[in-house]
Amino acid sequence: MDTADIGTALLRWYDGAARVLPWRVPPALSRQGVRPDPYHVWLSEVMLQQTTVEAVRPRFARFVTRWPALAALAAADEAGVMGEWAGLGYYARARNLIACAGVVMRDHGGTLPQTRDGLLTLPGIGPYTAAAIAAIAFDAPETVVDGNVERVMARLFDVQAPLPGAKRALAALAATLTPQARAGDHAQALMDLGATICTPRAPDCGACPLVGYCAAFARGTAADLPRRQKKAARPLRRGLAYVGRRADGALLLETRAKAGLLGGMTGWPGSDWTDDPVPAPPVPGDWRQVAGEVRHVFTHFELRLAVFTARLPPDCAPLRGAFVPSGDFDADTLPTVMRKVWELACKAP
Ligand code: ADE
Repeated sequence: MDTADIGTALLRWYDGAARVLPWRVPPALSRQGVRPDPYHVWLSEVMLQQTTVEAVRPRFARFVTRWPALAALAAADEAGVMGEWAGLGYYARARNLIACAGVVMRDHGGTLPQTRDGLLTLPGIGPYTAAAIAAIAFDAPETVVDGNVERVMARLFDVQAPLPGAKRALAALAATLTPQARAGDHAQALMDLGATICTPRAPDCGACPLVGYCAAFARGTAADLPRRQKKAARPLRRGLAYVGRRADGALLLETRAKAGLLGGMTGWPGSDWTDDPVPAPPVPGDWRQVAGEVRHVFTHFELRLAVFTARLPPDCAPLRGAFVPSGDFDADTLPTVMRKVWELACKAP
């Protein structure tokens, strides 16, 4: 078997089955040399690191309507971008987006560099995103390895070594398939295959264009791969969050410290998140705990928040934060954990 045959079979499948995505140039046009807007490719890749294609579709559409080009994003105000990013998680990525747009305007004449190495110099662009933009936007023969591609490689080559240790080996296998021509379509074809056929559970091997080459299919191990090292349980942290409301409806919110989790985002004042949080009401008052708690999973820990509410007097002078008039408050622009706090607080009697 020649790895070129695998690439050919994959592209033939992609030519007929490529998902229609708003940032993508369909294969019929890409074969003729039509390239996507690099700004769209970059933005979609950053968004897709957080969540699924279906969740990204409407967010992407809103984002490019508001900031249609890199120049517009470079001039955007940070709060607006953070608001559009709400719920997509990892807010540092949104801040890096503006920083990156600024550097591209200042140092690169407003156009993204076309090579992986050039892209890697930009803020917020790591090896994955650099390879993805170089391949998809500029058709550079780069190997793009996300979780989908790792799974496809583990199965195609029946790699029994567990992730994350097997990452380098899986990337090396993926590199053996990367073609010199149509590298962008090849990268997207692998992603589509992983998302639609070579799925984590119950892969649809009967529909797979690579089934004839697949070592795991031949051995009946496809559904068990990739193997994963058992993860240590996430540590549990606790915290207290305070939702204070004045009689005129204004809510006490604060901008979180720039450094640290959810840095620069809007949130409810609260304690540090630790094993044993110390009460930290932002202003003295009749704070009452709401029944229940907020649970939220971050990458490195799980958080449980106790939520307190209080009616605050009109002349109240908080130690932290500032009052936001109720007409200016939009819970949908809060980071997800803070939106959960609001939802629980709304259940208070
Ligand atoms: N997942 C991440 N990037 C993708 C892309 N460009 N196309 C499809 N799925 C993706």
